[in-house]
Order: sequence, then C-alpha cells, then structure tokens
Amino acid sequence: MPKIRVLPDILASQVAAGEVVERPASVVKELVENSIDAGAREIRVDVDRGGAALIRVSDDGCGMSREDALLSLERHATSKLRTAEGLGEIRTLGFRGEAVPSIASVSRFRIITREPDQDAGTEISVDGGKIRDVRDAGCAPGTVIEAKALFYNMPARKKFMRAETTEAAHVEHQVRLHALAAPAVRFRLRRDDREIFDLPPAGTAVDRVRQILGTDLAKELIPLPETRGNGVMVSGFVLPPIHARKGRRHQFVFLNGRPVEDPMISRALAEGFRGGLGEGMHPAAWLWIELEPSLVDVNVHPAKREVRFHRPVDVRDTILESVTEGLKPPAAAKPRLELDSGHPVPERMAHETAPVSRPLGAPAGAWASLMRPVQPTLPIRPPLPGLAEKAVESSEIVLKSRFRVMALLHQRYVLLESDDGLVIFDPKAAHERIFYEKLTRAQEGGVPVQGLLVPVLVDLDPRDLDTVLRERMALAEVGIEVAAFGGNTLQISGVPAMLPLDEPSVFLRQLLDELLHESVPGKRFAFERLARVLAKRAALPVRASLGEAQRLLDELFKCELPYCAADGRPTLTEFSLNELGRRFAGNRGG
Ligand SMILES: Nc1ncnc2c1ncn2[C@@H]1O[C@H](COP(=O)(O)OP(=O)(O)OP(=O)(O)O)[C@@H](O)[C@H]1O
Ligand SMILES: [Mg+2]
Repeated sequence: MPKIRVLPDILASQVAAGEVVERPASVVKELVENSIDAGAREIRVDVDRGGAALIRVSDDGCGMSREDALLSLERHATSKLRTAEGLGEIRTLGFRGEAVPSIASVSRFRIITREPDQDAGTEISVDGGKIRDVRDAGCAPGTVIEAKALFYNMPARKKFMRAETTEAAHVEHQVRLHALAAPAVRFRLRRDDREIFDLPPAGTAVDRVRQILGTDLAKELIPLPETRGNGVMVSGFVLPPIHARKGRRHQFVFLNGRPVEDPMISRALAEGFRGGLGEGMHPAAWLWIELEPSLVDVNVHPAKREVRFHRPVDVRDTILESVTEGLKPPAAAKPRLELDSGHPVPERMAHETAPVSRPLGAPAGAWASLMRPVQPTLPIRPPLPGLAEKAVESSEIVLKSRFRVMALLHQRYVLLESDDGLVIFDPKAAHERIFYEKLTRAQEGGVPVQGLLVPVLVDLDPRDLDTVLRERMALAEVGIEVAAFGGNTLQISGVPAMLPLDEPSVFLRQLLDELLHESVPGKRFAFERLARVLAKRAALPVRASLGEAQRLLDELFKCELPYCAADGRPTLTEFSLNELGRRFAGNRGG
C-alpha cells in the first residue's frame, strides 16, 4: 500500500481555506473581489455578528449560468486565467479559482445567480463543501453569495475568531479598501441590519476618498503629483503630519487597482516626509501605483495582500519623488496660477479619470494645513493660512513683512504679530528643524567633521560598545568618528563641525545613551534617526532674544519643511483674530 494519497476534494478545499480564509473579513474580500471582477455597478455587503453568523455579498454583475455556478465550486475553476503566460499579465483581482470552493468548504453556503439575458436564475446550496441542492430561482440579474456559520465544521479555526466588534471592524476596513479600489461602484455595508455606510458611485478616486473621509478632513488632503519612473507611475494623496499614526491602518495602497500592503511602500511614504513625522509614525495616505504587470508577481501571498516587485528600488524612488514633490512649499515648484485661487482643495483635485490623479500642484490650502501643530493643546485652527500664497515670490521677504516680532515669553517662546492674529514661535523647535536640514543637505558631500583636540573616552557596556563599533560607518555619515580604545572604552575623535559644543563628553554620552536605549522601531542608526536625535541634542536651550528670533525665523523659512521640527512638533502656532474673537465673545457685553 502506498503511503501517499491524493486528498479528497473537500478536504483539499478545507486545507486551502486555512490559507485563503483567515476570518470573516477575508471572506468579504474574496466575494467583493469576485463582484468587482464580474463588472458590478453596485455591491452590497451584509454581516451579522461580525460575520460569524452571516456574510452576504450581493451584486448586479454578469451573473453565472447554472453550469458555471456549479463549476465555480470546483477547485481551480476560474474564468479569469487560461494560460501560464496569462499569469504574467493578470488584470482581474482573482485568478486561482480557489476562493469560492474554499469558503464553501467551511460554511453553510449559498449561491443565487442569474445572467442578465436569462429568464431564470440558479440557486445552489452547499454545506461544508457538499452540494445539497440545485434549483431554479427567480432572482434579479447578478449574484448573491452567502456564507453562514463560518467555520462551523472547523472548531479549531473558529476559536481564532475574535470578538464580534473586532471582526466587524476588519470587515468594515476591507469594504472601504475595495470601495477605494473601485470608486465607480456603489458600496453598501450593513451590520446586524443597520446601515454602516452607503457610498454612491464616485466619478473619480478622489471623490471616493472624500466620501469616506468627510468634508472636513478632505479639505486637508495634499495631492501627490503623478510621477513616472522606470515602468512605474504613482499618484495619490496624503494628509498633513498631524494625522500620522503608529499603525498603517490608514494607508491605502493600490497596485494596478489591487489593494496591497508592503513595508517598502510604507517606508517610502514616511521617508517622503523627511523628518516631518515623529518616530515610528506613518502618514495617512492613498496611493495608486500603476506598474507593468510583468514587473510584479501578485501570486506570492495566499490572500494576495502582498506582492513581489522585480525592481523594488524603482517603485520606492518614484513614490519618494512624488511625496517629496507634493510636500514642497509652493515657492519651490508650483505655478502661481494654481495657488492664487482661494478655492478649497477638493475642486482642484478632481481627477479626470480614476484612479490616476493629475493635480498640477499642491494648492495653497493643502500646504497651509501642513502647518497645523502636531499636538494642539488649545483649539487652534490651521495657522497662517494665506502665507503659502504669498510665499510664491520668496518666503523670506514675505515673512519679514508678515510677522512682526513683538515679545519674549518666559525666555522660551517668541510672540509674533501676523496679519491674521497672534503667532507663537518656538525657537528651540526651529533650531532643530534648521540643524536637521543642514545636516541632511551636508550628507551628500559628506558632513564636515571637527576633530576633537582631546578625544572623548566613554566606557560602555560590552554589548553596547559592540553595537556602536558595528555602526561606525553610520555614525561617520553624520560626522561622528569613533574607534575602539581598548577594554570597554570607546574613543570619540570627531563630531559634526556644525555642532556648537563646549562640553562634548556630556553631549556624546547622552547621545549614545539615547541611541542605544530608547526603544525605536526600525533601524537604530539610520541616518534619519541619527540626524533627528542630533538635531534635538544640538538645539541647546536657546537664549532667546528678539534679534536672535528674527534671525532664526529667516533661517527657518529657508528650510523645506519650516512648520515642524524634525520630530513633527510645530515650530509656529497661530491664534487667529477670529479665534480670539470667539474666545472673548462673551466679554463684549452683547
Ligand atoms: N459574483 C460573481 N459574479 C460572477 N461570477 C462569479 C462571481 N463570483 C465568482 N464567479 C465565477 O466563479 C469563478 C470562481 O471564483 P473564485 O473566486 O473561486 O476564483 P477566481 O476569482 O477565479 O480566483 P481567486 O481564487 O484568485 O479569487 C470565477 O472565476 C468567476 O467566473
Ligand atoms: Mg475570486
């Protein structure tokens, strides 16, 4: 007797389901993708009890004949892929013929479907992969697929399901994601018979983004200009740094229309903010990537969430360029015309065709909202609107005329008068931003080093010493020269020349301490992080004087991102006259 046997089909499907169907949201994903592939104009998703009791996806797409509906339940039965070459140029969301049989094998399953030109439809009931009933059905053209009692026959998997609310949240995220991928389709989501949302067909991708975001946030969207690289094209939107978050749940990335997750893409997005984000923060982003299908492998992940790029660097560079361009202050690149209109952002962001954007430049409103303080402690509206328009000529000149330095506040802040009200300026944050950008600019030609006459010796824990020595090259890139001195001692013989230091040993000890012991995601000694930590440490408590404040302001506005320090803290915060008026409204005595 041979030991190897071919699995019966149902068992094989259940095994496959283990990969394809992790939780209710993955069922929703597969069914919605099928509806999109079927050309639906309207997709409705119903879930009960987080999807554990019922998942139903209804569409008005092309439907199936009885024969096709029966075939769809067979493993590897697909209408979307015919030849091996076809796999290299897949444009549909599905291609394996795995999803329907997998879901049917782990639920009480029903397909009700009708082709538009047929009088009658078909209804097929399946229990745990076994067909129970096939009959004629009077139904609307399109397809309804229902999966009840998910994992009822797989108790081990059922245990992995989380609380209903958690599963429901995943479902909601999933439907939003596909709603963004297919803006022309109406999407409705109902949970336990209550409507969660009903998104009408949107003309363009940005309209869909706005429907989901709501008008207030949509006003803050910053368009990323369409950017082409080697076989790649990207476009999209980001929100200002204040809306950045730790996780990546608010990043929506589409590759040739398919939602994907990719750490390289997230990194490129964050990198584009060049020190405008706090440690480990990710910007809210909507990104559409168009790539020649032959340059990417979409068949590497069981749920097709991840992909493999043949030339990841091209993709990264193009994203980086687009984000950098999108975030540039208007003075740097934007045509005057674009900035002049006082229109809110969205009108001008409307794309001609979804999903590729064609914004000509970041509108003033979007740029102004970049200035919003990261953690406002008071209700503050986006500071300094209007500045961006004026900045077109030269931010410096405009600045001098628009801000009048008035007074020092507790030796720490500087009060400025602007055309719109009161601006509070934080010289330390400004100092950090200026230092950070100087260091970053110097990186290309090599950061100038100032040799220490008396090298600083620092005793370190052996493991820390080892780490620091291994990162010697990275430290050298920011101008810090270190070497082993013997025993557990580290010798520091050079520091960046732009660092104003009277007490290098204290400074360097603190710096190493911070680098070694603060828990941070990502690479501890990456240039970005080194530069940020250095900037923070280099900005000694500024002995603020009014003259110094003016000089700092001038320098600040030569920076690429003047409105926040390297860790995202604001450098300027405005209280507009309107805002002040509102606060003192009660004082005017009617
Ligand atoms: N809502 C639908 N409307 C019309 N046809 C559908 C629908 N859902 C599934 N089908 C048909 O059933 C087939 C099998 O679907 P299934 O999801 O199992 O595979 P697939 O979409 O081809 O590939 P993948 O496993 O990658 O999703 C599809 O190829 C399609 O022809
Ligand atoms: Mg499918």
